[in-house]
Amino acid sequence: MDVYEALYTTRMMRRLRPDPIPLDTQARILDAAVRAPNGGNTQRWHFVAVDDPELKGELAQLFRQARAVEYEKFSTGTGPMATPAPGVDPAAHAETMRRIKGSGNYLADHFEEIPLLLFVFAIDDLGGANIYPAIWSALLAARAEGVGGVMTMVLRNFEDTVNEMLGVPVEEGWKMSAMLALGYPRGKWGVAANRRPVQEVSSRNHWDSPFGVEVPEPLWPPQQDVPAGLSAVG
Ligand SMILES: Cc1cc2nc3c(=O)[nH]c(=O)nc-3n(C[C@H](O)[C@H](O)[C@H](O)COP(=O)(O)O)c2cc1C
Repeated sequence: MDVYEALYTTRMMRRLRPDPIPLDTQARILDAAVRAPNGGNTQRWHFVAVDDPELKGELAQLFRQARAVEYEKFSTGTGPMATPAPGVDPAAHAETMRRIKGSGNYLADHFEEIPLLLFVFAIDDLGGANIYPAIWSALLAARAEGVGGVMTMVLRNFEDTVNEMLGVPVEEGWKMSAMLALGYPRGKWGVAANRRPVQEVSSRNHWDSPFGVEVPEPLWPPQQDVPAGLSAVG
C-alpha cells in the first residue's frame, strides 16, 4: 500500500468483526511497530496482546466503567476531551464529541467481540513522545493488513487493576500508555477529512503570518483539479 494512502485512511475504526487476526499478521504489525523512532534507542516498550475470552470479558467490564468515569469528567468540563482548540466553535466540538461517543458506545457494547487487544507499556515515555511513534506505526501497519482499530486511553483510569490483571512488573517502572482495540472493520476505510485545513493550523516564521498556501481539500487521493501551487500527494 502506498504510504500516503495509509496515512490518509488510517481512521479510528470502532465497529470491528470478531474474526481472529492470524498470528503472522500480528507479528507483521508488531515487527513494524518496533522499527519506530525512540529516544536513545532504549526501546523501553512492551506490548501485551490479549485474546483470551475470559480475560477480555473481565476487561470489558472494566472498560465500560472506565469510560463512564471519562465521560463524567467530560460532562463536568474536565478531562482531555472537554476543551476545543482555541478559536474552534464549542458547538462544533460538542457535535464531534457526540459522534465519537456514539461510535465509542458500539465499541464498549461489543467489547467482548474485539479479536485482539494490544496493551502498550513504556518506561518514562516522555509524556507519550517516546511511545506514540510505535503506536502509530502499529496502526499504520495494521491498516496495510486490512486490520482496523482504535487507540484508547480510558483504562488508565483503572491502571492498577489492569496492571494486576496482566501481571505487569510495575516495580521496573512500566506504565500503561494505551490500549489498541484491533480487528477487521465492519465499515469502509475513508479519508480523515474531518480535520482543520493546513492553513488554519500552520504559519510561517511568525505565529501570525500565513503559511503561504491554502489546502482546501485533502491532497490524497490525487485529483486533477489541485489548486494552483500545489501537487497532490502519492
Ligand atoms: C491520545 C489519544 C487518545 C484517544 N483515546 C480514545 C479513546 O479512549 N477512545 C476512543 O474511542 N478513541 C480514542 N482516540 C481516537 C480519537 O477519538 C480519534 O483519533 C479522533 O476522534 C479522530 O477520529 P479519526 O482518527 O477516525 O478521524 C484517541 C486518540 C488519541 C490520539
